[in-house]
Amino acid sequence: MTKQYEVLFSREQLAARVAELGAELRRDYAGKTPLVLGVLKGAVFFFADLLRAAELPCKIGFLTASSYLHSTESSGEVTVKMPNADEIRGQDVILVEDILDTGNTLYKLTRLLREQGANSVKTIVLLDKPDRRTADFSADYVGFTIPDAFVVGYGLDFDEQYRYLPDVVVLPQDTGK
Ligand code: PRP
Repeated sequence: MTKQYEVLFSREQLAARVAELGAELRRDYAGKTPLVLGVLKGAVFFFADLLRAAELPCKIGFLTASSYLHSTESSGEVTVKMPNADEIRGQDVILVEDILDTGNTLYKLTRLLREQGANSVKTIVLLDKPDRRTADFSADYVGFTIPDAFVVGYGLDFDEQYRYLPDVVVLPQDTGK
């Protein structure tokens, strides 16, 4: 199905790495029941696969953060919708993201979660693009470090397209649509 695209990470590679990350979480959070928060929308596929791989007793929730409005460039403005502070206070929060780019989103979200009284806040990202970083931020767990190419699939979009692709692929140059 995704043969016409340049595949950066196949579904098999993704599954293998997600299994490793799940095992790391299971080990690091043994005896705890963290609150795992998925950052909508891009993280949904990674989030679901990761938690099934981790087999870790946990609570789950979601928050919304959006900064790319019909563009391949971050607007710099991060719009956030979070759970109530009551749900955050005292929790060991694990934030699950599809991609860490400028770092603006996770910088802002981790700060907000700490302000709301989380006991601890850790971040796990499937993809990390360190070349693009502008915020002073690094993730606690990283699936793959990638160069500065615009990638889509496995939840990642361009203008709400391509999220459904099972592989992570490089955005086709000629389409943009
Ligand atoms: C993407 C991605 C992260 C953020 C990372 O979200 O899911 O939330 O950008 O970029 P940053 O490190 O530069 O902040 P997007 O705004 O595209 O929303 P989406 O998850 O709904 O696709």
